[in-house]
Amino acid sequence: MSLTAAPEPAELVAWYAEMGITEALDEVTHDHFAAPAASEAPRPRPVLPTRAGQPAPVALRPNAAAATAPDDAALTARSLAQEAMTLEALKEALARFEGCALKATAKNLVFADGNPGGRVMIVGEAPGADEDRVGLPFVGRSGQLLDRMLAAIGLSRKDDVYIANVVPWRPPGNRTPTPQEAATCLPFIQRQIQLADPDILVCLGAPSAQVLLGFKGITASRGKWVEYDTGTRRIRAIASLHPAYLLRQPLQKRLAWRDMRALKAALDNVSQG
Ligand code: URA
Repeated sequence: MSLTAAPEPAELVAWYAEMGITEALDEVTHDHFAAPAASEAPRPRPVLPTRAGQPAPVALRPNAAAATAPDDAALTARSLAQEAMTLEALKEALARFEGCALKATAKNLVFADGNPGGRVMIVGEAPGADEDRVGLPFVGRSGQLLDRMLAAIGLSRKDDVYIANVVPWRPPGNRTPTPQEAATCLPFIQRQIQLADPDILVCLGAPSAQVLLGFKGITASRGKWVEYDTGTRRIRAIASLHPAYLLRQPLQKRLAWRDMRALKAALDNVSQG
């Protein structure tokens, strides 16, 4: 885009898209240069629960996501996650958590979908635009492909699998979550796995395979069984290619199909064992 001439509208829209601005946030226009109204109250301070369950004010500044030091955010995440004794409580704890800046730009918290009692837990990367709008993981095109892949081995989202993401808020423009964002949210997804207590964990895509299983690259590590320690017990875990990648690279579906068949065989083995 030229810096000297006013941009053409189409050029401007293309530039917005490139910068990750893919949606208007509101239907009415706002004058961001206008002085704030005197009646506008400052954002309330976040209140986090103590171990005894009593709400207590926490020394976080307003706009805590930006202001909280990363280490503080990780520590808060860890204690909030550990205090949650049920998946519902964990979801509420995440809704109160102010340590991840992605929350400020997301429309919804995307916690989970499927059957929390299912034998398989699938963990993706982060919500996209559709998931952000609906508040459920894997409901867009990737999710439809995932449902078809599961159906091919006789599994359904409703009955057999529980689905979540490493990061529960949509990164702007569907970018990959930063290592910092993934690390901050890690205690929550670890606790979610522990509370759901599946027999098998499936990590879809590189960020999930890396933060949960310690894999460096997805191409070399997909399809390999490893053990995952939930903190309560050791379960089997496997990484596979992300459905969004398969939509872009359909020829790679044959590798994902191998992983699905391995998952099916492992489920059958666990049932017999
Ligand atoms: N991709 C993901 O990793 N998760 C979703 O929920 C949707 C798309």
